[in-house]
Amino acid sequence: MSITINESHLEFHLYNDQISYIFRVLEKSHQLEHLYYGKRIHHRDSFAHLIEREIRPSCNMFEGDHTSSMEHIKQEYPSFGSTDFRFPAHVIMREDGSHITNFVYQDFRVIKGKKSIDHLPATYVEQETEADTLEIDLFDKVLQCQLTLTYTIYQDRNVISRHARFVNIGKEDYFLDQAMSMSLDLPDDQFEMIHLQGAWAREGHLEKKRLSKGIQSIYSNRGASSHVFNPFLALKRFQTDEQKGEVYGFSLVYSGNFLAQVEVDTYNVSRVTMGINPFQFKWKLAAGESFQTPECIMVYSDHGLNGMSQTFHKLYRDRLARGYWRDKTRPILINNWEATYFDFNEDKVLQIAKTAKDLGIELFVLDDGWFGKRDDDSSSLGDWFEYEEKLPNGIEGLAEKVEELDMRFGLWFEPEMVCKDTRLFEEHPDWIIATPNRRVSHGRNQFVLDFSRCEVVDHLFNLMDQIISKSKISYIKWDMNRHITEAFSQALPTDQQGEVYHRYILGVYDLYERLIEKYPEILFESCAGGGARFDPGMLYYAPQTWTSDDTDAVERLKIQYGTSMIYPLSSIGSHVSDIPNHQVGRMTPIDTRAAVAYFGTFGYELDITKLSDQEKGQVREQVAFFKENRKLIRNGEFHRLLSPFDDNITAWMVVSEDKTEALVGYYKVLAKPNEPYQRIKLTGLDPNQLYQVNNETSYYGDELMNIGIILAGNYIDRASDYWSREHPGDYQARLFMLKAL
Ligand code: DGJ
Repeated sequence: MSITINESHLEFHLYNDQISYIFRVLEKSHQLEHLYYGKRIHHRDSFAHLIEREIRPSCNMFEGDHTSSMEHIKQEYPSFGSTDFRFPAHVIMREDGSHITNFVYQDFRVIKGKKSIDHLPATYVEQETEADTLEIDLFDKVLQCQLTLTYTIYQDRNVISRHARFVNIGKEDYFLDQAMSMSLDLPDDQFEMIHLQGAWAREGHLEKKRLSKGIQSIYSNRGASSHVFNPFLALKRFQTDEQKGEVYGFSLVYSGNFLAQVEVDTYNVSRVTMGINPFQFKWKLAAGESFQTPECIMVYSDHGLNGMSQTFHKLYRDRLARGYWRDKTRPILINNWEATYFDFNEDKVLQIAKTAKDLGIELFVLDDGWFGKRDDDSSSLGDWFEYEEKLPNGIEGLAEKVEELDMRFGLWFEPEMVCKDTRLFEEHPDWIIATPNRRVSHGRNQFVLDFSRCEVVDHLFNLMDQIISKSKISYIKWDMNRHITEAFSQALPTDQQGEVYHRYILGVYDLYERLIEKYPEILFESCAGGGARFDPGMLYYAPQTWTSDDTDAVERLKIQYGTSMIYPLSSIGSHVSDIPNHQVGRMTPIDTRAAVAYFGTFGYELDITKLSDQEKGQVREQVAFFKENRKLIRNGEFHRLLSPFDDNITAWMVVSEDKTEALVGYYKVLAKPNEPYQRIKLTGLDPNQLYQVNNETSYYGDELMNIGIILAGNYIDRASDYWSREHPGDYQARLFMLKAL
């Protein structure tokens, strides 16, 4: 890995064995020109041959020069208004209303390793040798503004990370109307854009469309990354599939409002931009102050979508997630939400915990309804005191009893919200996000606390701390069940109201950080009405996320398949729930539900006391199976094989790092009569290794990858079986365990 600078003509080449990223300083304007990003190429003393300049009808920066139109120059962090008419990376507005910037190159630094980013989540290194960082300083003389663009290239990963920092070193205040994390001009538009879209209970659905001229974008303006779009997009070549071909992936390490977009101009240049959504954003950069953008992770892969995803998985699992739980085996949990909803008491939940313990489950999680007078969703958020009628011994007493079962205890909170019937609201009615003299919209009868204010975050920390400090709590599920409306903070002056959304999420990060610091051994699972905040920002604090409130096994195939584009299995919260399923009413076999949930953190969410003895036996086996294989599932390389978005069949697999073990999941949604022959071609195995499949027949890796697992039966000499065959029916799942011999 290296960052090599051709100093005489100021070219920067970041490269490792897999990728190259090249840009340079323009001679006249001293702005940055992008030259190349993709598969590793040779270093040269000059990359001048990559410069493209045509004389084109346009406006040019310099008189007498007809090739200095920034509109026709591929750039690193473009501005608007001085000959480039495309969507810029930044916009700064001065008090006089002008908005022209001219950031010119000043200096560079190469730093071993990677620095952390103040108050924001970010990927990191453990050894300086894992990455090199290049900082480029640019300066706008009129604004007296310093802009530092940071690029980190990882040693063994096809990853470049980028972010930007503005520092006002002058005497005049001005406003950042837009400050994106990254902008990249790719030289052509022969791509399909992939992203995840959805809604509550159907998150993570894959969407694919061919790039077309103009802007195509995904975004959030809801105060959270949201169910609707994920802060991720990928550009893949038309022929690229899961296993092969070129793809560029972009993922924003952020949990608030974002924008991810591609603008294709009429010269076929594709400008990718990602960062905080400029809509409703305006940051006062007062004299002497600075603004830091979130980090954007860029992955280039020529090994298809799986290649891209595997890079994201490893980076996010090992160098974004942190702390005590990062490398640890996560407990198999049982959550009481779908078992009881609000209707529980200590006896009931202890019965669930006890039965779960008997079946091998390791952690009991008490969900919503344990505080205030919360019997439904109309009250009590903010009164983080035990509901005595339900829990006469409090959380402390319940946790103790669960611990006595030799089980760990976990608890649900929704710290960012308040209901109007609470002490918190009575004492601090001005602590909610609301616009003066306007109606305040509710979501699920709750209001959003103004986390942009330190005193609010302090107060919530104290309330939570009172419960946590006196009880043996090993896990916290941090929920967030509505979005921000009527954004306005009573604590901010008029000219800083455009900061509310970003300051809000900084407040959320702050509370997480403080809780983690005080309770480093608590396992956090983030949640936002399911997957409305399944984003890399959250993974920095909570290594797992509740993926969706939809627990139906069939729906989960799509949700988990889509989510796996970016996020590792170690982060994908997945539970076996009841039938008829509570979201769609579907009746799927319990083994199918488990076979889907295995490919995630795995747990249960149903009234386990009501299962038949036979079902309990199945649960016991499932728990034992997961315990035996959870290291493989957590640490292995995940491969998507067949997409639920294409057909009736889904398949995926996870292969151990040393390729001696693999687990394949195969799911057929609807049974079909007299079907065509089927094979699942595996990937990622050692071609020369002999694997035993489900303790039966053995095959070489090359057979499994080139011929596949043959799914049809072999009825030679048993034609009479035709009428007596048992059909597995709809919603069938099959697992194939491969062990190297
Ligand atoms: C939404 C979450 O996604 C559910 O799992 C559950 O915790 C409920 N909130 C509780 O209100």
